[in-house]
Amino acid sequence: MCGIIGIAGNQPVTDRLLEGLKRLEYRGYDSAGIAVINDDNGPSTLVRRRAEGKIRNLENLINEEPLEGHLGIAHTRWATHGAPNTMNAHPHFAGRVGLVHNGIIENFTLLRDQLKDTRTFQTETDTEVVAHLIDEAMKSGLSGKDAFAASLKQLTGAFAIGVVIDGVDGQLFAARRGSPLAIGLGDGENYIGSDAIALASLSSKIIYLEEGDWAVITTDSVEIFDANDTPVERAVTIVSGSLAAAEKGNYRHFMLKEIYEQPESVSHTLTHYVDAFHHKVKTLAELDMEGLDWNKLERLSLIACGTAAYAASIAKYWFEQLAHMPVDVDIASEFRYRRPALTKKSMAIAVSQSGETADTLAALRYCQSKGLQTAAIVNVMSSSMAREADFAMPINAGPEIGVASTKAFTSQLTALLSLAISAGVRRGLIDGSREKNLAEALTQMPRLIAETLTLDADIEALALDLSKADSAFYLGRGVHYPLALEGALKLKEISYIHAEGYAAGELKHGPIALIEEGTPVIVIAPTDALFEKTVSNMQEVATRGAKILLITDSEGAKNTAGMTDATLICPTVSVETAPIIYAITVQLLAYHTAVHLGTDVDQPRNLAKSVTVE
Ligand code: F6R
Repeated sequence: MCGIIGIAGNQPVTDRLLEGLKRLEYRGYDSAGIAVINDDNGPSTLVRRRAEGKIRNLENLINEEPLEGHLGIAHTRWATHGAPNTMNAHPHFAGRVGLVHNGIIENFTLLRDQLKDTRTFQTETDTEVVAHLIDEAMKSGLSGKDAFAASLKQLTGAFAIGVVIDGVDGQLFAARRGSPLAIGLGDGENYIGSDAIALASLSSKIIYLEEGDWAVITTDSVEIFDANDTPVERAVTIVSGSLAAAEKGNYRHFMLKEIYEQPESVSHTLTHYVDAFHHKVKTLAELDMEGLDWNKLERLSLIACGTAAYAASIAKYWFEQLAHMPVDVDIASEFRYRRPALTKKSMAIAVSQSGETADTLAALRYCQSKGLQTAAIVNVMSSSMAREADFAMPINAGPEIGVASTKAFTSQLTALLSLAISAGVRRGLIDGSREKNLAEALTQMPRLIAETLTLDADIEALALDLSKADSAFYLGRGVHYPLALEGALKLKEISYIHAEGYAAGELKHGPIALIEEGTPVIVIAPTDALFEKTVSNMQEVATRGAKILLITDSEGAKNTAGMTDATLICPTVSVETAPIIYAITVQLLAYHTAVHLGTDVDQPRNLAKSVTVE
């Protein structure tokens, strides 16, 4: 997970940038670098030091070849595009521009093509092209500030960026779209950082940039602009250094912060499973799992609890459709005592955020005792499941503090979808061009999640109505059936409103008796092969008085005009990745309903984050 720090200082910055990088080590990285505007003797120059591996390698290099300057940026890189070596390490240079970046520039191939006649690229990264764009814009006569703003408009993807420009009067440029970025306010100095932890020793006064914001920072000023280039004021939060790790930023609850972190957390998951540079999912060999062969497996057994079990249930559809692999999904507490008939040609995969859930761990151990290969898809890599399974598969969502799981869910889905595609490729069911399409659909996830988050205000308004209900139903078909179950779980666990998820086609076999005038029914139905069938089921409950909230895309909204009480329009996405996007809406709906009701969102009654008892 890349980390950024930058200082517009009144003192030399190198040592402090190094210290900030050390604070970012917890995010994981494979190389690091620092660039400063060297203003020591004579005319200024842009200089950098970069090193593969640990930050102490960079520190040793700087001891041998010191860097002097009052304005600088630094970066820890977790490779996404291009090998983790010194050449690909940030900061990247182009002419007068030095740049650090966290996230994915989705349209970098196109931009590189556009610049290939005038520019020479040194790296395999998606990042370098941004430095060239800014430098090119300055060559055409724009100021550093205007060149930065104009270049941002050409980028698609989810990212945070820090920039210094040689010859541009002590200005540090920063932008946030999808990936978080904070500004620290100092005394005669100002800073940027990936989070408050990076800035902890420098400043306790933090401004969290909002989605689409960009900023120009000098020693004594901070100007912030929104996505339309309009100057804006953003609130200053006072952060205590020791609390920075568990800081909510300018979010009211950890759950909301974690919902908003999903463009970034999903991009961290993608980094592990997808080779965005070559538009393919990583092979098991690339994931260091040579001992596993999708071709030799006859069956998969996915085992989990709660939200993780719903992620597993969605993955069943993916493994069956993309890889033609039979899949059993089991709730761990049932599986472990059921004495299931297992064959040695099946593999058990435990899915767990914490990696410590007692039932899931016991189920994993049971499978091992029966001689099955086992894997654990976990967020906490130091957990028992990660240590005990034959293969530990990280989701890299970062610490999840809110009790209700949100970002771990979308990262579990991202990992599982990537693995299902990898199985489909290995089993000869997915050819190169289909793999490319699927990998591209995956890489667009962070941006599309960020786009979906813009529905927040609409969802908050709809949640007011839902907060007045005694019970609610969630309906979906196919992959959106388990998502309906997850939506209902989110609502009941934090708002305490009774909620049920159903397969849309199943309702008329009994539960429809519960529908009465005004019963809220949330229907999850993107335009896909099952859309019309779901809409028919929606009409069956609408005619019985249900109050319908349809979550769909623009095509779906057009085709259901006048049939619903409210419609939420999500971005149009590929059939495979749709549940990851639609998950954001049900999370926000549950969150705002709970806030309207005044419950303890982050620590709902009777619940614990890690359930280590059975
Ligand atoms: C619901 C929730 C729980 C967990 C379940 C499994 O929001 O968080 O249902 O998903 O307790 O926990 P892990 O994933 O840690 O095994």
